[in-house]
Amino acid sequence: MPNVIVVGAQWGDEGKGKIIDLLTPEVDVVVRFQGGANAGHTVVIGESRTILHLVPSGILHEQCRCIIGNGVVVDPIVLIDECKGLHEQGYLPDPTRLAVSNHAHVVMPYHRQLDLLREESLGDAKIGTTGRGIGPAYEDKVARLGIRCGDLIDAKIFRKRLETIAPIKNQQMTSLGGKPLDIDELVATGTDWARQLESHICDTTLLVHQEMGANKRILFEGAQGTVLDIDHGTYPFVTSSNTVAGGAMSGAGVGPSAIDDVLGIVKAYTTRVGQGPFPTELDDGAGSHLQEKGKEFGATTGRRRRCGWFDVVLLKHAARVNGLTMLALTKLDVLSGLKTVKICTAYEVDGERIDYLPSNEDDFLRAKPVYEEHPGWEGDITHARSLDELPAETRSYIDRVTELVGVPIALVSVGPERSANIIIRKPF
Ligand code: IMP
Repeated sequence: MPNVIVVGAQWGDEGKGKIIDLLTPEVDVVVRFQGGANAGHTVVIGESRTILHLVPSGILHEQCRCIIGNGVVVDPIVLIDECKGLHEQGYLPDPTRLAVSNHAHVVMPYHRQLDLLREESLGDAKIGTTGRGIGPAYEDKVARLGIRCGDLIDAKIFRKRLETIAPIKNQQMTSLGGKPLDIDELVATGTDWARQLESHICDTTLLVHQEMGANKRILFEGAQGTVLDIDHGTYPFVTSSNTVAGGAMSGAGVGPSAIDDVLGIVKAYTTRVGQGPFPTELDDGAGSHLQEKGKEFGATTGRRRRCGWFDVVLLKHAARVNGLTMLALTKLDVLSGLKTVKICTAYEVDGERIDYLPSNEDDFLRAKPVYEEHPGWEGDITHARSLDELPAETRSYIDRVTELVGVPIALVSVGPERSANIIIRKPF
């Protein structure tokens, strides 16, 4: 049975939620492997928009088991709230449909506070984080000062962990103007979280392998995007996890031989939230067109996303570091109505032309995009369900993107509706 990793190929917000929702009727299990409540998947069903931050959007399909793997950092407040909302809408009648790794680290209230305090202290050098405590939670994981979901279940173990951690965290908190940890209050809060989440917490690595052993089809769901990866992204303006396909290995506990395909989700243009270099960024009418027509506001923070043209240099990087075997091109309809559309094929840094990402931040900030210009198209393409139904200019754009990136396109999304897709090749 095929096992497929789905990753964002740009700076996140590529429309992964919709594509994953489209694929999940065909899969038995969806596993999230990194990130936390910094992600936000908007899923549109009829008139209703559901935003999920932690629970994989596969939960909206009855046959699908959803797993939050060990590589995710779990904010129990967000998770409990999402479970409640899903329960009320009738999507979570059986707790075994959602499993949370006992080894996933917990985003504690002090992680959120540290995230905000640190951003404030960085001034102009701030990262523009989502303020969800993601970086501080991963820092504690690596520093071996973290709390794991499994630790919450036993109040004694939880208290002991907090007592070990508190002296070090208190130094950090107070040096930035925050308050020291109140261990009694944290134990009470954690015990309440455990009561509400206990039925979901288990050894998810074992579960994933049981499902693979039973020949189930598994989709590994990435969050954020390739150039937000801690190693392969635009450091330091990145998130704190491995967003690339390799993250699925450590974040879910599977080996590379378990994977059949890697699907990269890519928007027909580029967006980014937060600070950092963005060579194809636009501050003209075309940029406003993309921002407004694409409704480019962050699902998690509501921030206005920065918008720009399609960047092949970025995409080739994503193809390499993820081992992409196919692409899903999203939000193609947003380009409709532009007189011309541009594709960035290379960068120029101090007069030198390059077709790879500059290795340091300063060079990246100076990188100037080299563009190809193509004719745009008029009219509404949201009703197209095959490539033949698209205007000739739109088809040329798709062909050119495929040729330049060198990865075949399997799916094209032509509108926000669940059904607004052109399916060229089914990943499952
Ligand atoms: P953090 O993940 O909250 O630490 O934020 C680090 C950087 O990643 C910031 O630039 C955020 O805007 C960006 N980021 C985090 N999550 C997402 C996402 O789901 N979509 C797009 N950008 C994100």
